[in-house]
Amino acid sequence: MSSSLIAPSILAADFANLQRDIEMVNTSQADWFHIDIMDGVFVPNISFGMPVLKAITKHAKKTVDVHLMIVDPDRYIKTFAELGSDILTVHYEACTHLHRTLQAIKSEGMKAGVALNPHTNINVLEDTIQDIDLVCIMSVNPGFGGQSFIENTYNKVKQLKALITSKGAATKIEIDGGVTSANAKALKDAGADVLVAGSFVFRSENPSKTIEELKHITV
Ligand code: DX5
Ligand code: ZN
Repeated sequence: MSSSLIAPSILAADFANLQRDIEMVNTSQADWFHIDIMDGVFVPNISFGMPVLKAITKHAKKTVDVHLMIVDPDRYIKTFAELGSDILTVHYEACTHLHRTLQAIKSEGMKAGVALNPHTNINVLEDTIQDIDLVCIMSVNPGFGGQSFIENTYNKVKQLKALITSKGAATKIEIDGGVTSANAKALKDAGADVLVAGSFVFRSENPSKTIEELKHITV
């Protein structure tokens, strides 16, 4: 069985040494860059915006996975495509017309992702799962790095896996928040395909080695 895809979250990088941290990810065994965009409205924090994303995509040599924690994301779909996003994930809770939003993301040539807050039930995706390339299950309340993992996530991963299988969809399952070497294997076993890790990677002594560890733990 293949190992999980590992997506280091740049939110936990050293912004004063961003190029160095991007090169670390480029040369590591990581699969994707996970980029968190927050607007201070959908979540109680502001991360960074377009100019910083532009600087990141200039150097990033791997898939750029952009996680929008913003209200009314439709306004910026085209902009994020132009900035070099490969995957654009919007929050279910921020979309009134999710189906339309997914089509708009794909029509810009990106893969379409949907993130679910910890309180949001998997069954809200029953009618759209076949249109979704990636579901991001939030395993913390979005807005900040470094929070502790919510244990109920395992149940949600299993439910989502069952939904994807029952509909014959090709959707990938991503886990975001509090991922460490202590829960990576169990998440993979529950059905996760992609593990986002911020603090666990960037606050470790050797981030590249930590990425490798996460990758190998999930085989
Ligand atoms: C939280 C973000 C996460 C965050 C994860 O709102 O969506 O991507 O960077 O950070 P850790 O791995 O530190 O929980
Ligand atoms: Zn994220």
